[in-house]
Amino acid sequence: MKVSVKVPATSANLGPGFDCLGLALPIYNIITIEEKVLPGSGNEINIIVNNKNIDEASVNQLPMDENSIAYKSVEMLYSLTGQVPTDLKMTIETNIPIARGMGSSASVIVGSLMAANALLSNPADEAAILSIATEIEKHPDNIVPAVVGGLVASSIEDDGSVFYHKLEWPDDWHITLCIPDFELQTEIARSVLPKDVPMHDATFNAMRMGMFIEAVKNKDTELMKYALHDKLHQPYRMKFLPAFEEIQQSLKELDNVMGCVLSGAGPTILVISHGNNIDEIKQRVRGCWDAVNINGEIITTKIEHEGAKLLDSHSERINSPQIV
Ligand code: HSE
Repeated sequence: MKVSVKVPATSANLGPGFDCLGLALPIYNIITIEEKVLPGSGNEINIIVNNKNIDEASVNQLPMDENSIAYKSVEMLYSLTGQVPTDLKMTIETNIPIARGMGSSASVIVGSLMAANALLSNPADEAAILSIATEIEKHPDNIVPAVVGGLVASSIEDDGSVFYHKLEWPDDWHITLCIPDFELQTEIARSVLPKDVPMHDATFNAMRMGMFIEAVKNKDTELMKYALHDKLHQPYRMKFLPAFEEIQQSLKELDNVMGCVLSGAGPTILVISHGNNIDEIKQRVRGCWDAVNINGEIITTKIEHEGAKLLDSHSERINSPQIV
């Protein structure tokens, strides 16, 4: 039997929602698991790069054995039925940029869990998939939108279960992803965060999180400008992000830009805007990048409303972002 799952990229944090807000994007990885015909031939993991902007060298550094997150995910799913994965061929067709804050590891975890689940006739329901995936990833903000799609606020409860609530994203708000040509590993970006934060920084974010929810609900672009700020992670990560502050300052001058935040742990920068001056936004970002010799890709996309899904035909393997 062979199962393929298509999983969207995600952008987490979205300003005030550190470790709890995230949205799905129309860029996809496809994870396929196949039972091998020859018993005793062992497990095998392959990665196929589908995006010319993904550096083969970074892919070659990923573990391809039992230490890979694909294998660990499948192993955890199999343990629900008391089994150990044997003689499986796992293939990751990767189109989501790696180590750029766009949920590539969450997509592999979710895709591997869902494919293994289908192979074993679905021992895990959605709640179990979310809880296992979050246990592996450690925070739910990429995992939940990868599974359910759309814009989502999520939390982990004390027993490890994941609670989420979907929010409406205004259709005419644009997401521009500025993806630089360098990587930032999440572990490194998390290692600089403090264990405790000042009370006024916590209230700063809590207040803006409330504004964020009201702003998307009422499509209120002015309120969103107040909401898209953070004191819990971005200030600590600035040192990894040449030009981020300059980009924020430059885009502040454009009335239709609501904000400019880190996508996940970075280094991708996410610009939220309305109206039709996308080219001006891109030029300004390029100008700030040029000043510090950064290259990269800038794409404007819609939000992906659908989460991960099993593929039942080859025709669904669309793998390019919907550029606005
Ligand atoms: N919320 C996480 C972080 C996302 O900012 O570290 C990592 O992808």
